[in-house]
Amino acid sequence: MGSGNLKISWARQYMPVLSAIRSRFEETLPLAGITVGMALHVEAKTAVLVGTLAAAGAEVHITGCNPLSTQDDVAAALNDLEGVSCYAKRGCSVDEYYAAIGAVLDAGPDITIDDGMDLIYEIHTKRRDLLDTVIGGCEETTTGIHRLRAMAKDGKLEFPVIAVNDTPMKRFFDNVHGTGESALTAIMATTNTLIAGKHLVVAGYGFCGRGIARKAKGLGAQVIVTEVDARRALEAHMDGFHVMRMDDAVAAGDIYVTTTGNTGILTERHFPKMKDGAILSNAGHFNVEIDVEWLETHADEIVRREGIDTYMVAGRRLHVLAEGRLVNLATPKGMGHPVEVMDLSFALQALCCEYMAKGGRSLAPGVHDVPNAIDEEVASLKLAALALTIDELTEEQVSYMGGWDTGT
Ligand SMILES: NC(=O)c1ccc[n+]([C@@H]2O[C@H](COP(=O)([O-])OP(=O)(O)OC[C@H]3O[C@@H](n4cnc5c(N)ncnc54)[C@H](O)[C@@H]3O)[C@@H](O)[C@H]2O)c1
Repeated sequence: MGSGNLKISWARQYMPVLSAIRSRFEETLPLAGITVGMALHVEAKTAVLVGTLAAAGAEVHITGCNPLSTQDDVAAALNDLEGVSCYAKRGCSVDEYYAAIGAVLDAGPDITIDDGMDLIYEIHTKRRDLLDTVIGGCEETTTGIHRLRAMAKDGKLEFPVIAVNDTPMKRFFDNVHGTGESALTAIMATTNTLIAGKHLVVAGYGFCGRGIARKAKGLGAQVIVTEVDARRALEAHMDGFHVMRMDDAVAAGDIYVTTTGNTGILTERHFPKMKDGAILSNAGHFNVEIDVEWLETHADEIVRREGIDTYMVAGRRLHVLAEGRLVNLATPKGMGHPVEVMDLSFALQALCCEYMAKGGRSLAPGVHDVPNAIDEEVASLKLAALALTIDELTEEQVSYMGGWDTGT
């Protein structure tokens, strides 16, 4: 077995929910005749999703959603699967990246699966010819959903898209536990430095930020949180973290992790005030949270190591991981979210694809929630895989919860 297939079979053994869905798909072929276009991180767990969709009868065309997250051996293994074409290449240039997106779109997808809206953006801007045939899309991540909602608000989103990111079975596990564990793992593996005792600054106390903050605290870090939302800042304070402005946090921070999905979080205003040896990383979506462009053009000296660029600014060494891209995926040691977490997220994607194929043509253009039944199905399949059982509401309890005339 080649290295790509070895990675895929390793992941598959910890993905019982997708396995259960695949068994049903193999019998019912709900995606027969459907072409699925995907722009996701091309690595082993994604390959298990691709295999599940292909087993459901789909023709799958996939490329990456980040030039640094592709694993070439997995991409090669995907190309060996029947009905699957993969165009991703690690370290590709911007032109190659968009050529690969173009190749996916040339296949004429009926359903798109994005992680950051690349396919949907291209279809709505440069490939409008496809708008007649696309049934709809599924979006994996927070940033993509924000942009899709902005498009929908402007009346520019011309087909239905399911906000997979926003459903509890994704946000509570993938964003919190997945990003929480994998971002810290990648920082530790890339730098070989200790988290314990460090001042670790988390920018943004959203789902990802709180996962990172809680797990860093568990490792013994002094966690500082920066926020712009008063409620989330208060939540961070009551969860036991130091809350302050980034302008103040820079005096103490040893390690930074940005998770805002916003731009300009660490900038020229902050760099000269940071500690010598500070480690800067991003776990939000694109590469805009840390102003790497400023560092590239203004640093007195740059030293490049694998996954770490060191910029000399005002006599300080500032170490930026993975060029300011997703640290948990784009560092050479970053393997993305833990397998079990992606089993849940990709189970949602597989079931949403089936839902879109069956009923997507009757959905209005716009951003749609994951149907509750799908969210619950994924939770139930996971509980079954864990051999965990839960109580059921009695008739009396159902009636009590639904009534208004008892209990006062
Ligand atoms: N690394 C990964 O694998 C991974 C996984 C899931 C999501 N993401 C990405 O992580 C980002 C965050 O996702 P989320 O689900 O936590 O989103 P979220 O909306 O729950 O949280 C973002 C938080 O950042 C805060 N924020 C915005 N601007 C800020 C600023 N200037 N300073 C400080 N805080 C600010 C917001 O108030 C919010 O509380 C998104 O870009 C998402 O796409 C990454």
